[in-house]
Amino acid sequence: MSDDRLIIFDTTLRDGEQSPGASMNQEEKVRIAKMLEQMRVDVIEAGFPVASPGDFEAVKAIAETVQDSTVCGLSRALDKDIEAAAEALKPAKSSRIHTFIATSPIHMKDKLRMSPDQVLEQAISAVKKARQYTNNVEFSPEDAGRSDFDFLCRVIEATIDAGATTINIPDTVGYNIPFQFGDLIKRLLETIPNSDKAIFSVHCHNDLGLAVGNSLAAVLNGARQVECTINGLGERAGNASLEEVAMAVRTRRDVFTCDTNLDTTLIVPTSKLVSSITGFPIQPNKAIVGSNAFAHESGIHQDGVLKSRETYEIMRAQDVGWTENKLIMGKHSGRAALKDSLEKLGISFETEEELSAAFRRFKELADKKHEIFEEDLLVIASETTTDSADENYRLISSFVCSETGEAPVAKVVVNVEGEERTGEASGGGPVDAVYKAIASVIPMETSLELYSVNNITSGTDSLGEVSVRLEREGHVVSGQGADTDIVLASANAYIDALNKFTLDLNREHPQHSGV
Ligand code: KIV
Ligand code: ZN
Repeated sequence: MSDDRLIIFDTTLRDGEQSPGASMNQEEKVRIAKMLEQMRVDVIEAGFPVASPGDFEAVKAIAETVQDSTVCGLSRALDKDIEAAAEALKPAKSSRIHTFIATSPIHMKDKLRMSPDQVLEQAISAVKKARQYTNNVEFSPEDAGRSDFDFLCRVIEATIDAGATTINIPDTVGYNIPFQFGDLIKRLLETIPNSDKAIFSVHCHNDLGLAVGNSLAAVLNGARQVECTINGLGERAGNASLEEVAMAVRTRRDVFTCDTNLDTTLIVPTSKLVSSITGFPIQPNKAIVGSNAFAHESGIHQDGVLKSRETYEIMRAQDVGWTENKLIMGKHSGRAALKDSLEKLGISFETEEELSAAFRRFKELADKKHEIFEEDLLVIASETTTDSADENYRLISSFVCSETGEAPVAKVVVNVEGEERTGEASGGGPVDAVYKAIASVIPMETSLELYSVNNITSGTDSLGEVSVRLEREGHVVSGQGADTDIVLASANAYIDALNKFTLDLNREHPQHSGV
């Protein structure tokens, strides 16, 4: 690997999915993985196969589908984890096993209850075990950012000797400061005698808002892989955001001696896809992918940009995939036009049935709103690939009556595990009434943690995209629905979230259970 290549390791589907409420089903994960592959992400961390049968199957499905990126599976430094990862990754054209164990004093003592020597031994044997299945093995000393430097050097030297080809330095708790983290990478590379035998990677969390800063400081000091996520999703405050890291190195070629292989024009569509699947909205002022990232409000700025774009813009909006809110299709557009428009957005369907379902949904929508924009197509595509086979609950119909001076009333018909049930309720508003009516036929104790509505395009006939987050017995899930009728969108979002509770509740968390 030449020095001028920065490897992008995307962990949206693993660390990103560890964001409370961001769990995704298999179809959604495959869809995101395909988009990442198209964007030319080098390594896709597809999940933690030992966590649950659902995680295992999702990693396997991604391994079967993705051809051009390396597919990676996470494992603790345990034989059963490594075996599960190896098995799930079997179909992959190119695979990597990522194994980790904590090396900081606090994690070893309080979490693992192991001595440093035991941790060292376990790290070596995990890497050796992983090498039995693939010659592409990544090792992470978890919480490296708070580990003792000399011990870290011992573990890294030994794991490279044992066969690790990538050494990933995680700032697991987002504690480091850029100058310090950059210096850590430099000293590790200089001190460890066999450091030239592995690629050094970094994995930074954003607890102090420094994940991207720390990652870039590491790159300036010799790291050649960055682990990151779309929209900065991830455990707690998230991980370094892929789009920010990628655009920083590309825009500042005067500072960085390396660049990624990414097709950055797919950044915005991928960001929107991840946001719509997870229900995590993108803040308008988010760098690169926020709706205001290239908007100029002040007259002076607008005037400057009109005279010369470079006065206030350091990147071109189209280079990261922003397009004008283009009207691309109308009521009379046909199936081939839909296919073509979706392909231009980087979306292709596996089967003709999926395309037919998307076309039906497009026709329904075109009847309601006449003008269909790119944003609408992204929503249609996202709905189309949602796997209805996994659904225990499905809304059949809803009726809501809201009249001045009267409490709104709702009646819903829901398919509950194959049986049609009717529920009625009144509420403080139409959405409240419909939620109560649904709750009356799906008795599941949950609490609503978030309810938000976003318009997909402008105009009162826009699709309203509703996201809800529900909590039940410590588990948090999110659900999404989109419709020109926001009460219907709200009902579908609620049912989508309830369905997710029935999937995979007993997953293991990679970092909660010690070795
Ligand atoms: O944050 C972390 O340390 C991790 C490891 C598993 C790499 O996610
Ligand atoms: Zn992490």
